[in-house]
Amino acid sequence: MKIIHAKSYADLSRKAANIISAQVILKPNCVLGLATGSTPLGTYKQLIEWYNKDDIDFSQVTTFNLDEYVGLDPADPQSYHAYMRENLFDHVNLRKNAVHVPDGMVEDLADACKRYDALIQSHGGIDLQLLGIGKNGHIAFNEPGEAFEKDTHIVTLETSTLQANRRFFGTEEDMPKHAITMGIRMIMQAKKILLIADGESKRDILNKALYGPISAQVPASILQLHPDLTVVCHVEDKT
Ligand code: GLP
Repeated sequence: MKIIHAKSYADLSRKAANIISAQVILKPNCVLGLATGSTPLGTYKQLIEWYNKDDIDFSQVTTFNLDEYVGLDPADPQSYHAYMRENLFDHVNLRKNAVHVPDGMVEDLADACKRYDALIQSHGGIDLQLLGIGKNGHIAFNEPGEAFEKDTHIVTLETSTLQANRRFFGTEEDMPKHAITMGIRMIMQAKKILLIADGESKRDILNKALYGPISAQVPASILQLHPDLTVVCHVEDKT
């Protein structure tokens, strides 16, 4: 495990974007696993800036997102589909058919889960998986207490997760209570993992995840067992 302490959120974003950029330079047709949330916003912004300077080329890259709310149309502004279009996909030369976000609108969700995993496998798995961390230690939407060996599946979101993400919705009642999420098994099969964490509110959970016992109560703690984990964090209260 490599832990890189960033000086600021801007520094964290540049460092994370540098690592993603290096992956794309080293393997132009790589498969990137992408995350949503507030933390990756600066990373995506930096990647777009470098794309505009002709420093990074996404034309051969394939992407798979971690999760999506169940029942939100991809056109819904609160959906993770919309987040990805707004914050990355619409601004770089990723091919339209090379970007994938789980579909939370299909009738047969169990089948959609299986197809998502099969599609990732058919691309040879994920080369670099970008991850944020929830305040309760969740990665993607794998909530505490779930089995580590799950594949893509449907989850019921915890109250703390609903509260943390409520800022993106009008009221808690407006929020979907379920999500479709890549499972920990697939995340752990990524060749490299890049975990980013920003802010004092993430310090305790990051410590538990990286140095505490490996426990399903802290889903991110399983990352300790990954052979190629890089953590870029800015969790000091100095800046
Ligand atoms: C959501 C996402 C996670 C993300 C987490 C943390 O729950 N499903 O993938 O890591 O939020 O988000 P933030 O970066 O906003 O703290």
